[in-house]
Amino acid sequence: MIVGLNSQSSSVHSLTSIEDFIRWGASRFAEAGLFFGHGTENALDEAAALVLHALHLPPDLPASWFNSRVTSVERERILDLIQRRIALRIPLPYLTGEAWFAGMRFHVNEAVLIPRSPIAELIENRFTPWIDPTRVARILDLCCGSGCIGIAAAAYLPESRVDLVDISADALQVARNNAKTHRLQERVEIRQSDLFEALPAEKYDLILSNPPYVGAREMAALPAEYRHEPDLALRANDDGLEVVKRLLRQVPDFLAPRGLLIVEVGNSAESLLEHYPDIPFVWPEFEQGGEGVFLLSAEDLAEYAHRFNHRTVRESVDKQ
Ligand SMILES: C[S@@+](CC[C@H](N)C(=O)[O-])C[C@H]1O[C@@H](n2cnc3c(N)ncnc32)[C@H](O)[C@@H]1O
Repeated sequence: MIVGLNSQSSSVHSLTSIEDFIRWGASRFAEAGLFFGHGTENALDEAAALVLHALHLPPDLPASWFNSRVTSVERERILDLIQRRIALRIPLPYLTGEAWFAGMRFHVNEAVLIPRSPIAELIENRFTPWIDPTRVARILDLCCGSGCIGIAAAAYLPESRVDLVDISADALQVARNNAKTHRLQERVEIRQSDLFEALPAEKYDLILSNPPYVGAREMAALPAEYRHEPDLALRANDDGLEVVKRLLRQVPDFLAPRGLLIVEVGNSAESLLEHYPDIPFVWPEFEQGGEGVFLLSAEDLAEYAHRFNHRTVRESVDKQ
């Protein structure tokens, strides 16, 4: 137990209202030097989200309720969460079991990355101006984790059918729950596969992917909070491009003639550009923040397939 976080300690006993606990929690978080970025961006928002969750209250609770008194049972619950957030550096969404993405709520646990891809903004804009949403019938979310990208795409494009693919059975269980919660099981298929390898031959209008792309040096420098996320979701060899390069080699067989590929590579964008200096990747700007997402049209992919050393999935499997 961290000093001062004991419910018997006098500093905690002086706290009575929701507002008191949020203010006090924010001070403890700032004092402990936590990392923020898994859902909130600062100590105050993080404390508010955590306290309201502990009280089973909505995140947009009207200000007039913040003076309400907290009971002793509620106090214990809040202190336990604050304690675990600080001592174990557990990111908030793993404590609450939920994360928000493209305005939708997703279940999360430590089998999946916490949703935060800037691709959310492209989904909210229904992928305009990059592709005409009315002609997007088939979507693939490759490396789907919680399924947030593919499920949100299915919700924003109600005529589409979406395949969610991941190599991790545990992640797919979370994705399945999320598809069910959003009542999208009819249009969303779950498939376990190492990239395209176990997928039937099919052409997608839109292929979306947030694959693992964190290189070795960057991995070693990540704040403690990231150690709770699956290694499989983050780590991708020395330059961060191991999975992305394989994806680029195999994707031409799966993209429809006027289709679009959208891939997040984060900070590995630099290595990608060094590796493929002549490829006309398009890098959209994001109003809501974030970067490191490229677009590539099916036409460009076909033209430059030789640069990715394009191999069909069958050839790739034989090669291994
Ligand atoms: C960065 S996480 C992205 C999760 C989710 N799309 C999101 O944005 O929150 C990458 C995901 O890729 C999966 N993955 C890693 N290697 C894979 C592979 N070879 N084939 C399929 N999925 C893979 C991991 O299990 C993890 O769920």
